[in-house]
Amino acid sequence: MDAALADMKAASKAADVIEIRFDYVDAPEPKAFLDAATKPLIGTHRPVREGGRYEGDEEQRIDLLRRAAALGFDYIDTELDSAERIGEHGEAKLIVSYHNFERMPDDLEAVHARIVDAGADVAKLAVMATDICDNLRMFDLLRAAEIPTIGLCMGEEGVISRILGPGMGSLLSFGTLDTGKESAPGQVPIGDMRELYRVNEIDGETRLYGVIANPVAHSMSPAIHNAAFRAKGINAVYLPLKVADVRRFVQEFKRLDMQGYSVTIPHKVDVMDVMDEVDQFVRDIGAMNTVVNRDGRLCGYNTDCTGALRAIESVMGGDAPLQDKHVVMLGAGGTSRAIGYGVKARGGRLTILNRTVAKAERLAGEIGCEWGPLDRLPKLQMDVLLNTTSVGMHPKMEDTPAPAELLREGMVVFDAVYNPMETRLLREAAERGCVTVSGVDMFVNQAVAQFELWTGGDAPEGLMREVVIKRLSGR
Ligand code: ATR
Repeated sequence: MDAALADMKAASKAADVIEIRFDYVDAPEPKAFLDAATKPLIGTHRPVREGGRYEGDEEQRIDLLRRAAALGFDYIDTELDSAERIGEHGEAKLIVSYHNFERMPDDLEAVHARIVDAGADVAKLAVMATDICDNLRMFDLLRAAEIPTIGLCMGEEGVISRILGPGMGSLLSFGTLDTGKESAPGQVPIGDMRELYRVNEIDGETRLYGVIANPVAHSMSPAIHNAAFRAKGINAVYLPLKVADVRRFVQEFKRLDMQGYSVTIPHKVDVMDVMDEVDQFVRDIGAMNTVVNRDGRLCGYNTDCTGALRAIESVMGGDAPLQDKHVVMLGAGGTSRAIGYGVKARGGRLTILNRTVAKAERLAGEIGCEWGPLDRLPKLQMDVLLNTTSVGMHPKMEDTPAPAELLREGMVVFDAVYNPMETRLLREAAERGCVTVSGVDMFVNQAVAQFELWTGGDAPEGLMREVVIKRLSGR
């Protein structure tokens, strides 16, 4: 009881309504909660069969809820299979709830109708999303509901229902007090609900953006873009979208009129097929990371390319800083393609060196530049060195793709690796008087370029950089 009361006090600072999960408390005492409450209370005593922790006698479970209602709880929550047993519940509103921890049932709408028939004041449906498109069905149900309804999808694919639900008509959304205190999978900490996603400010005018990824949990993009929208006073929210089937997702989510997406691993190539417009330069690169909705037409861009170039050119100065410069790029993978095409387009004299020489040859053939094995590096003249391999990345941070003695004062040295923020390559380059550009600079610039494509305005670059650095340094 002491711990539960302390949690209730902490939650009262952020939440509008507090759910007391009696099934998580030893010997729960409803009156003690009411005496200490400063916010409306929901009393819930969830049995194991519905995903809760209560394993005792059913009559005692129901009795505790009746007592909570009689004492003055604002809401009591009981499951559809036991709604009829509650009987008289005084002033308290009766939430009748349904849970499915496996999947979204085919008869979701019929379940809702049964809840209404059971005499609910509020219907609650919480079902496991197994696909991000399950959320759309829940949103349809919320919009059509004739009694107050709480509808949410659980799990990582369902996170967006917790963020957008209230804006779609859900009476409320559940957040957790803190990471690690979730009472259902996919719950978002209350601080993020309020400050990051601004759930209470989402309305019919809110523009929707998000990152299409799989996995998505560790993406920094929601933190960056939500902070940027907020700082600029733009009514928009940016969502983490865990997407398995990108074609289906893009088609189905047209119904929400999403205004833009970031696209990342593993969808950067496949997503191109479902765009209405992709310009030739992006087709040449063969991958995209940004979608802009222009009056219903989805247009694909690659800001990995523009972001990296912007970061590199910003330290060089002049109108065409890369023109005729000797640029050596280590690596011939996906990142290399995007950056290589950009360097070539800016007039750089590019040489691609790669461990697997055949890949360097193939990419160089497409771009139209020189190529060779990694050991050619000491023989090349270079103004700019670009590392687009993963050499030096955590945890092998003592590795470096280029020996320090090749790094000369005044050279520009770029590393696409951003974990660690300063790689051994960049540290040695700085020690030898090179101008360095980090993967953090590229990452921030690709996000800045996305923000500008979406809003047509300037991005708060300093703030976006702060968010990235804070995340990468684990603060
Ligand atoms: P990304 O999409 O991030 O560019 P990628 O397509 O897997 O990732 O490309 C990884 C690049 O890092 C490749 O150029 C790879 O060289 P190979 O083509 O020979 O695989 C390079 N790379 C990875 N580990 C390396 C290592 N230990 N030494 C040298 N190059 C390495």
